[in-house]
Amino acid sequence: MEELSGKVAVVTGAASGIGLAMVHAFAAEGMRVVLADIEAEALDKAVADLPAGVEALSMVTDVSKSEEVDRLRDAALERFGAVHVVCNNAGVSSGGKSWEQSVEDWAWVLGVNLWGVIHGVRAFTPLLIEQGEGHIVNTASMAGLTSPPYMGAYNVSKHGVVTLSETLFGELQVEGSAVGVSVLCPGWVNTRIHEADRNRPGGADAGGGAMEAGMRDVVAGLLATGLQPTDVADLVVDAVKQRRFYILSHPEWKPMISGRVERIVAEQDPAIGMLPN
Ligand SMILES: NC(=O)c1ccc[n+]([C@@H]2O[C@H](COP(=O)([O-])OP(=O)(O)OC[C@H]3O[C@@H](n4cnc5c(N)ncnc54)[C@H](O)[C@@H]3O)[C@@H](O)[C@H]2O)c1
Repeated sequence: MEELSGKVAVVTGAASGIGLAMVHAFAAEGMRVVLADIEAEALDKAVADLPAGVEALSMVTDVSKSEEVDRLRDAALERFGAVHVVCNNAGVSSGGKSWEQSVEDWAWVLGVNLWGVIHGVRAFTPLLIEQGEGHIVNTASMAGLTSPPYMGAYNVSKHGVVTLSETLFGELQVEGSAVGVSVLCPGWVNTRIHEADRNRPGGADAGGGAMEAGMRDVVAGLLATGLQPTDVADLVVDAVKQRRFYILSHPEWKPMISGRVERIVAEQDPAIGMLPN
């Protein structure tokens, strides 16, 4: 979709980090923006901080609930009459040994990161197909292309987002649809993802702690060395305009992807690395 001006973008997880940066990047292209997030106060602030003149709708939405994502689509349509770009971006993280993560943590992470994207795809794809134009951007992660330890639930959710996106891309091609798809797979980005349990159902302390404090500090340090969300958002805008499927914001991490594929094909044990070397 080369011309974005005047069109409508829906972004989930829009009140912080990468989602908020996408909202600003789309607005800078002259788009009207729909901001969805579970955090009401942060959402209000995000809307208040938009540059003057940007047409925006905000809606508190829990993407893990299909009816709330359907409601978001309906509200966007009612307000703007169309939706052109949909960024299924909301995400949370947890950490720990796969066998020690609580059932509640598994359900929470898969609910937001994977079911949130599934609900977005189910709610919006028919609309975009019917319109004959549109683009879906699903936020996965490098954790959707590799398997770093102590991130089991997160890795499972992000691998799910990658394969759903690839599947959707193929289906739209076979159907002859003009609707585009991208999957965003960043490495470290300087956001608040390490504090994801601020939005945990039942509060940060419910169900056994989403991420041990020690691990949270390590992740916080790594995120601080990462890209700025605005850099990632610019790549997303380019990918939508150029209909590029894979968005790999960290080229220096690519050997981890090719290394994984080579090991699979050679039937070797998986690498245990977490960082690019
Ligand atoms: N930061 C990184 O290093 C990194 C790397 C790879 C992928 N990602 C992915 O990028 C996406 C955005 O995360 P971020 O890094 O900007 O983190 P962030 O915490 O700054 O932003 C995430 C947003 O999602 C919202 N959210 C949480 N649960 C929600 C729910 N149930 N419904 C709706 N919104 C909800 C939060 O309120 C927050 O505003 C996530 O999918 C994350 O997994 C981040």
